[in-house]
Amino acid sequence: MEYSPLVDRIAGEGAAAWDIHQQGVDRQANGEDVIVLSVGDPDLDTPAPIVEAAIDALHAGDTHYPPALGEWPLRELIAEHFTSTGARVGPENVAVVSGAQNGLCFASMLLFQPGDEVIVLQPNYVTYEATIALSGATQVGVATREADGFRPDARAIDAAVTSRTRALLITNPNNPTGVVMTPAELEAIADIARRHDLWVVSDEVYSMLTFDTPHSSIAALPDMGDRTVTVSSLSKSHAMTGWRSGWIIGPASLMRHAENLSLCVLYGLPGFIQRAAIAGLRQANEIAADMRAIYRCRRDQVVESLAAVPNLRVVPPDAGMFVMLDVRDTGLSAADFAWRLLREHGVSVLDGTAFGPNAAGYVRLSYTLDEARLAEGCRRIEAFATALATNREHADV
Ligand SMILES: Cc1ncc(COP(=O)(O)O)c(C=O)c1O
Repeated sequence: MEYSPLVDRIAGEGAAAWDIHQQGVDRQANGEDVIVLSVGDPDLDTPAPIVEAAIDALHAGDTHYPPALGEWPLRELIAEHFTSTGARVGPENVAVVSGAQNGLCFASMLLFQPGDEVIVLQPNYVTYEATIALSGATQVGVATREADGFRPDARAIDAAVTSRTRALLITNPNNPTGVVMTPAELEAIADIARRHDLWVVSDEVYSMLTFDTPHSSIAALPDMGDRTVTVSSLSKSHAMTGWRSGWIIGPASLMRHAENLSLCVLYGLPGFIQRAAIAGLRQANEIAADMRAIYRCRRDQVVESLAAVPNLRVVPPDAGMFVMLDVRDTGLSAADFAWRLLREHGVSVLDGTAFGPNAAGYVRLSYTLDEARLAEGCRRIEAFATALATNREHADV
């Protein structure tokens, strides 16, 4: 029996990128002492009031079909939360979906069609290519230059626009680089979208985890609300990856289509999870501030620990839970570095190539473990890099 061509469109490098992570997790499950630094899943517990809210909702019998677009009070809270960016939105602009990833699928299926091109700034999150391909559209990568600190280059984006371009997909803050876009950078991107009449999909899943640069949303810029779909969730800011609690924010007319799509693919997020999300959003500022403080410490710890390691160059992030490490001077490809690090030293990291060609030569590690495990992970990375450097010196003699 034959499957739909879709199966090929959603396979490929993005899906394969997780192989090393899976092997790290499998080895750990088999009792090996593996430090898993390959996934953005916080080790922290979901805050207790959120868990309690879900349990209370379950006890109260909130186990029936929910409204397809989400409970109105939750949509109100999400809208209220987003207005802090300066955007003018109400609950009619919000659809509750199953995590930001599901939100990206909604955007892809509701905005794109076969033949469309969607410009993505690289390095980019690994699922984008397949998510865009879901709709039959094609991802067009535009490299941000490492010499510019992986910051967006409006001229390069503009040059990539063709008659087929339908949208710009931006990640602000970025995974894997941790770059937070400035208002000026966002304005330059908005200008391109307006001039070429493009949609903007803005993935802001790390917006509550910025360290030094305050986060701004492109949807808040003049005339951008009508052409922007903002995608986000509580996964990262509230240590809620498993709850699948996310949303999209966009024009009210889009939400009517989102409702129809939800009836096909989701039928709404479970009511007790929405109750939990409401509890989480009510305390969003406090919870996110605690998380941010933890990730800031860990970021500093990792950056400091690896700064002086021979042949490694750390790219300090301004947000999120990842650090990029340039491993080119070790003489190994990022894939070889990552696989040998796992096999010989028991640390799993991701090969940056999965995030785009301009991240080849980098590995991405996540600081989603406690201080002691992170210290041990960094010690092992240092031991590996130092051994590689020593071997190279001997080979050079
Ligand atoms: C940039 C980016 N977008 C979306 C997601 C998916 O997040 P969620 O758990 O809300 O689906 C992730 C998860 O790592 C991510 O890094």
